[in-house]
Amino acid sequence: MICSVQTLGITGIQGKAVTAECYISNGLPGFDIVGLPDAAVKEARERVRAAAKSSGLAFPVSRITVNLAPANLKKAGTHYDLPILISILCACGSVRRPKNTTAFLGEVGLDGSVRPVSGVLPMALAAKNEGIQCLMVPAENAPEATLARGPKVIPVHTVQELAAGLNGETVLPEAPVWEPSPEAAQMLDFKDVLGQENVKRALEVAAAGSHNVLLIGPPGSGKSMLSKRLPSILPDMTWEESLEVSQIYSVMGLLTSKKPLVMTRPFRSPHHTVSNAGLAGGGSNPRPGEISMAHKGVLFLDELPEFKKDTLDIMRQPLEDGKVTISRVSGTVTYPAECMLVCAMNPCKCGWYGDPSGRCRCSDSAVDSYRSRISGPMLDRIDIVVEVPAVHFEDLRSRAEAEPSAAVKKRVNSARDLQNKRFGSGGMCNARMGPDEMRRYCELSGECAELMKNAFETMGLTARSYDRILKVARTVADLEGSETIEPQHIAEAIQYRAVNLGNR
Ligand SMILES: Nc1ncnc2c1ncn2[C@@H]1O[C@H](COP(=O)(O)OP(=O)(O)OP(=O)(O)O)[C@@H](O)[C@H]1O
Ligand SMILES: [Mg+2]
Ligand SMILES: [Zn+2]
Repeated sequence: MICSVQTLGITGIQGKAVTAECYISNGLPGFDIVGLPDAAVKEARERVRAAAKSSGLAFPVSRITVNLAPANLKKAGTHYDLPILISILCACGSVRRPKNTTAFLGEVGLDGSVRPVSGVLPMALAAKNEGIQCLMVPAENAPEATLARGPKVIPVHTVQELAAGLNGETVLPEAPVWEPSPEAAQMLDFKDVLGQENVKRALEVAAAGSHNVLLIGPPGSGKSMLSKRLPSILPDMTWEESLEVSQIYSVMGLLTSKKPLVMTRPFRSPHHTVSNAGLAGGGSNPRPGEISMAHKGVLFLDELPEFKKDTLDIMRQPLEDGKVTISRVSGTVTYPAECMLVCAMNPCKCGWYGDPSGRCRCSDSAVDSYRSRISGPMLDRIDIVVEVPAVHFEDLRSRAEAEPSAAVKKRVNSARDLQNKRFGSGGMCNARMGPDEMRRYCELSGECAELMKNAFETMGLTARSYDRILKVARTVADLEGSETIEPQHIAEAIQYRAVNLGNR
């Protein structure tokens, strides 16, 4: 007797259709799972057998073979428990065969309960593409599965309940489609930061176009303080962007039934002891790294020179491409990684180089060696470099409240709206323009071209930094609501690269 049941698998953050086929034959009792299962899938044998017994369902005492097809796709995770169990119960006649447009996901407990699993959102999206009409998932994952706006989602609590439903003894109710409700997240506000108007302006431009930023200044000038307030001015996410980010968080198992959708842009600030795999993603069972967790949001590297040089350098390619590809013997996986990089550092070891007080005692070579920890190619990827000087006494004394984040966010949002109109709502932004888009949207008048020519010659720009200046200028123009790039926009963008870092 052969019986097959639909389920889904996952590679990277891409869902795939998988079929669990069960074959029960005479012979010595045994239970095998084939089709490149990993250790967790193999252990399903023990869970499935106990769950069936605890649920009062007959489990065959025969030779059982379960094949997870396609057999060349690596299967990982515990969500195969439920389809494996259902295929066995169907093959031995304990439950009625489900339609082949019904798919199952879920981990089972020894007591017959159905437990939540990770990666449900990308699998539900894949189910939609595969024409699955009904998705049976652990109750806790049901809100997440409905986000796909595809198959109808049936929440399952126990194996017993599911078996009764399949046999037509009870009706399993459908989960309501989860709707986001506006959330008022408590965020740190820019109004606490006194003075530093230049830096705030630079961060506003960066947030509007998702440009990479480096803040450089003496200790206690507010670099960490300013960066931590960035989330409060980041533009709202479109639905498509939210879904994309949520898929990564789903694979990491970070979504909950109360909050199945990531609605605010991520802000990740890994410590400088982070490993290469922790930052860029990897491991023998590949997982997304911080750079992917910051997809569509901010990756904040505080105390940049403290990071290991090779750890920083592995980010070079992902920063450019907006994705990380991890190759393993078992195949390659790709994770999206379109983040905005924000870095903070002191100008030298003691922290006071260039301060008007003249209290830096570092030798030139010491300053050079401190800065050389960050490679030239890495710096070339930074669009906006801002100096964060020590706060003036007058600013501190007055304690005047600065502009609140809400006002800044409004401007950032309207600049991003312009970009969404220009590029579509997929979340493309100025920083991610390719040569085609640049040709179309960054046309320069004679005067602007002249400015750029001067900058190119005097600042010794690379081709990449030339492009990056144009992209920043595009964002500055968007913030002003200007259709064309004007000389003052170019001038502002050039000024953001004019900070002398010695080694570029
Ligand atoms: N512009 C400012 N307005 C109000 N308070 C400030 C400002 N700048 C700094 N502070 C105060 O100083 C503290 C230290 O600032 P912060 O940690 O951001 O410094 P930093 O530039 O990151 O220094 P380091 O280089 O040592 O990391 C803040 O928590 C805040 O209390
Ligand atoms: Mg700091
Ligand atoms: Zn110094």
